[in-house]
Amino acid sequence: MTESSPKVAYTTNNAGIPVESDEHSLTVGPDGPILLHDHYVIEKMAQFNRERVPERVVHAKGAGAYGFFEVTQDISQYTKADLFQPGRRTEMLARFSTVAGEQGSPDTWRDPRGFALKFYTDHGNYDMVGNNTPIFFVRDPQKFQDFIHSQKRHPVTGLRNNEMQWDFWTLSPETAHQVTWLMGDRGIPRSYRFMNGYSSHTYLWVNGGGERFWVKYHFKTDQGIDFLPQAEADELAGHDADRHRRDLHEAIESGDAPSWSLKVQIMPFEDAPDYRFNPFDLTKVWPHGDYPLIDVGRFTLNRNPEDYFVHIEQAAFEPSNLVPGIGPSPDKMLLGRLFSYPDAHRYRIGTNYSQLPPNRPHSGVNSYAKDGSMRYFPSNASMPYAPNSFGGPAADVEHFGTPAGWASAGEMVRAAYTLRSEDDDWGQAGTLVREVMDGAARDRLVSNVAGHLSQGVSRPVLERAFQYWRKVDKETGDRIAKQVNGG
Ligand code: NDP
Ligand code: HEM
Repeated sequence: MTESSPKVAYTTNNAGIPVESDEHSLTVGPDGPILLHDHYVIEKMAQFNRERVPERVVHAKGAGAYGFFEVTQDISQYTKADLFQPGRRTEMLARFSTVAGEQGSPDTWRDPRGFALKFYTDHGNYDMVGNNTPIFFVRDPQKFQDFIHSQKRHPVTGLRNNEMQWDFWTLSPETAHQVTWLMGDRGIPRSYRFMNGYSSHTYLWVNGGGERFWVKYHFKTDQGIDFLPQAEADELAGHDADRHRRDLHEAIESGDAPSWSLKVQIMPFEDAPDYRFNPFDLTKVWPHGDYPLIDVGRFTLNRNPEDYFVHIEQAAFEPSNLVPGIGPSPDKMLLGRLFSYPDAHRYRIGTNYSQLPPNRPHSGVNSYAKDGSMRYFPSNASMPYAPNSFGGPAADVEHFGTPAGWASAGEMVRAAYTLRSEDDDWGQAGTLVREVMDGAARDRLVSNVAGHLSQGVSRPVLERAFQYWRKVDKETGDRIAKQVNGG
């Protein structure tokens, strides 16, 4: 039913025609065969067979809600983006998710959580598609598919397989920081409301005067950080698999609207070439001591969707939705993602996915796109090509400026980022273990890793895993080895 449909008390078919029965098919006598011209029972069966769209290849299980974002500070010196101007309030949609599990998987499995936000700005949709971790497992999009295959089910057994996970991780030392994070307390948040979100990537901001800044986003939960110990998470996985989806829905329904405060780290554009490690490497954070957090504003989620499938399952987030004042950085992962998401949406939901309710911009659409499967809105451009002399839309470079970008030159190569003095895979993971975690958190880290390694990981991979952890932190590695070996 659309918003404009009259409320009817009687059942209709999809064409709005009153149906003759909710219970009985049309038959030849009460005991006879069903007639083919009972188009209503055929419609019910056929529609049912088409109720599913493919689940997301990653981040399949999630929960989401609508809300609003408010700017509380003046950060216009860093970006001209409409949604970040002083006092601005922007409608938005958020979807949180687990990564590796399928639609029906338990919310409390250890996994990073997706933190996807869509802001309906006056200059089109701005999507910030982050995670609850400020870093990631790999730094080249070429390795993403292999990484995900190692986390998903084994092709022969159809089972999740710890051997594949540790094999991939220990052969890819750049995973150490994110794996340390994942195996620590924050690897299982108490619920979506009790976790932070991060852009993880660096983005480029441009202000009204054309000055450029590198930026990382931190969305800090106003509910406070809280986590589930492994045993409690395992127990919940058995008896309340949808705990986190339920928690978000019930909190909003009861008027307890969760919120997150946005803070950013700003790096002057000129700092990047000489910073002590590559600031675009997704496996590293910028230490707060170098680039402190700057307050920006807050978002609040206060409205549950009226229909989960329409608004959350069909939500299509894409890091390529960048509005004037915001651009990508040279982070190779981010550049790969700019292609991947719209491609995934065209396959999963269809060509015209951007016309569906959660994806439809609240500002106007004047694109030259036309036709395609399930197109709902007519094109605004009556002469569907540019340039045309009949008043069709024209790019407004004067108003919006040229796209945010940076200079680049060099030979075409297949190579890792050029190493700088502090580019290593182990340093920040070690800092997390030694300087951020306290003794009790380190004990839980050792126990979480040892428990995971004790489930189906063979000796050669185990030995590599012990070495991997010794490189993160010698004592932690020794303790893990001892616990796994039964010491
Ligand atoms: P700081 O001491 O300034 O920051 C430490 C950060 O660690 C805080 O943001 C804190 O988040 C977070 N934290 C606390 N416990 C955990 C945990 N169990 N798992 C993951 N994060 C946790 O140090 P630096 O900025 O110099 O960074 C030191 C290390 O802290 C980094 O190597 C990185 O592993 C981690 N970190 C750094 C972040 C950054 O952007 N600089 C962001 C998050 C983590 P909170 O304030 O919410 O409690
Ligand atoms: C979902 C690809 C890295 C966060 C997805 C989807 C794809 C994908 C294809 C499914 C999209 C859909 O069907 O709707 C990739 C690739 C990556 C990458 C190719 C690396 C090259 C990352 C990183 C982050 C991230 C680094 C976080 C910083 C998310 C989130 C979702 C998602 C939050 C779910 C969005 C939603 O709620 O609908 N990713 N991803 N991904 N990804 Fe990634």
